[in-house]
Amino acid sequence: MNHLALGVCDYPEHVPADRWEVYAKQQKELGLTYVRIAEFAWSLMEPHEGQYQWDWLDDAVNILHKEGLKVVLCTPTATPPAWLIRKHPEILAHDPQGRVRAFGSRRHYDFASQVYREHSRRITRAIAERYGQHPGVVGWQTDNEFGCHDTTRSYGPASTKAFPVWLEKRYGTLAKLNEAWGNVFWSQEYTAWDQIEPPNLTVTEPNPSHVLDYARFASDMVKEFQEEQVEILRELSPGRFITHNFMIFFPEFDHYQVSECLDFVSWDAYPTGMLEFFAFWESEETKLKYARTGHPDLISFNHDLYRGLKAYSTGKQTGFWVMEQQCGQVNWSTYNPLPADGAVQLWTAQAWAHGADTVSYFRWRAATMAQEVMHSGLLRHDETFDRGYHEVKSLQTEQFPIGDVPAKVALLHDYRSLWIFDQQKHNADLSYWRQVMLYYSTLRSLGVDIDVIHPESDLSGYQVIVAPALTLMTERAAENLQQASNHAHLIFGPRTAYRTESGRTPEDGQFGLLSDLVGGKLKNFDSMRPGLKETVSGYDVTIWSESYRPLDAEVLHVLESGPMAGECAVMRKNNVLTIGVHSSGLIHDLIRDILMETGVPVLDVPEGVRVSRRAGKMLVQNFNPYGVDFLGTRLAAVSFELME
Ligand code: GAL
Repeated sequence: MNHLALGVCDYPEHVPADRWEVYAKQQKELGLTYVRIAEFAWSLMEPHEGQYQWDWLDDAVNILHKEGLKVVLCTPTATPPAWLIRKHPEILAHDPQGRVRAFGSRRHYDFASQVYREHSRRITRAIAERYGQHPGVVGWQTDNEFGCHDTTRSYGPASTKAFPVWLEKRYGTLAKLNEAWGNVFWSQEYTAWDQIEPPNLTVTEPNPSHVLDYARFASDMVKEFQEEQVEILRELSPGRFITHNFMIFFPEFDHYQVSECLDFVSWDAYPTGMLEFFAFWESEETKLKYARTGHPDLISFNHDLYRGLKAYSTGKQTGFWVMEQQCGQVNWSTYNPLPADGAVQLWTAQAWAHGADTVSYFRWRAATMAQEVMHSGLLRHDETFDRGYHEVKSLQTEQFPIGDVPAKVALLHDYRSLWIFDQQKHNADLSYWRQVMLYYSTLRSLGVDIDVIHPESDLSGYQVIVAPALTLMTERAAENLQQASNHAHLIFGPRTAYRTESGRTPEDGQFGLLSDLVGGKLKNFDSMRPGLKETVSGYDVTIWSESYRPLDAEVLHVLESGPMAGECAVMRKNNVLTIGVHSSGLIHDLIRDILMETGVPVLDVPEGVRVSRRAGKMLVQNFNPYGVDFLGTRLAAVSFELME
């Protein structure tokens, strides 16, 4: 297909079998191409160990295929059935308090459990043997939303056993591990591998280096878990794609590593829930304003991140899917307002403009049972067409051609920096995502298209590279940045290169490996409580500021108040700019100047309006609950215009 395709997530096992043909016909009529099924259906596929029951799934797949719909089938490992848990309770994960996370919802497994790994391979093989060559099955989704409900890190026996083995592979000797973690501090030195446990239930905060390596370990367990499934699917289902549906702002594993074995990535977009649930830093006023649309930048940041995930391993941005697109109200957030009229179309158009090749709605019919009865679908419980259905029906997908997103600006993102940053925030109002979103939103308010990419990726195509929170610095990233400075302008935020690969600070202090590139050293930092404020060149600074001792950098801005008054807060060496303060006004003006200097086109867009470019077109989006005049057009509330 050379334009955006649509799909839906459907659950044949939730409705009587006589509805399957009716739904397939309706799905086809709606213009859908793909139907994703079966990600939670293990208890029906295998009601007792080794006794498979495929008739229902055969029928479901055949009916969709007969109707000309393409099936995306899933491995059902997000929901190990009751018989399996009863037989092997050791599969269950443990929370940081050491308590068992019990059967009765989903994602109740420890990725490091070898027993579960064996069953995961077994059910994957069984389903792939049955459907791997089915002409209606065009692709696979592994599991469902790795890490959802904080399930990446487990603190029970399976992970406790696997962690020291992983550490021994990483460090070789205990001397190296003790040195890397700085275990001489508080007498934490280990003398045998089996003395090392997960970093939970400590009296006060655990060693951040210990936590950092636990994050790496748990992330590797997810990677291995998925790779085992992918290997089987590749063998038994050649020619089909394999993807995974990643999640909104999900921090717990390294998505760059975990996506390596996939053909492309997918993510699940729930814009209203995302604003309410994840963005703690957004004001009440903002939450209210965008309650029925979600915040444009929170959504598009995730699109840009997922478009760039595979670039780390393949060197290229790739098309991605939105596997689950909200199409009505959700059920899981603090408040769950009904989306505004036009929101489903706006979200779909935005996903396309940021590189999605397929948008698949969640879900076909609202569930009439269990946990998600208050979540909407394209059909209501009574099978009448819901509001989202009508919006999808009138969407003209031909106007959304597949093509490149022409970004000349890169924003660097690294899960390792996220882990160490959030482990020691030093300020309750700060977080890695908040810091990243401050810079991302600034760039978007200037009409810029952005690639979100890993600092060790190919940086050659960019004119401006922004690194808002690159706290952990590796030698590879430092070399990459040094090289990139030959052709691009670099902009660094606070805490850059403040931590080494194992989470210590560099022996020569911040900026460690980047000292020469930025041309200065850290002097002091200040974590401000609410109500404390400083100023820099007339701009307000809250939450965080740091001052620098320039070596050969030029001083651009100086703190005017507070304990660091008179010290440098923004410095520049050639084309490398370092901004030490949390100040949206100053950051906006500095970035705008750099864009102008480098010739990246700047378009000052009104609040709530965003522009995005793809395949030679420009999508102008209005997320405001009121109309706006922009570029000579009147944009209605919650609407978009496509311009050539
Ligand atoms: C997703 C999940 C779906 C469903 C949905 C509800 O995170 O993958 O299975 O629970 O949320 O919004």
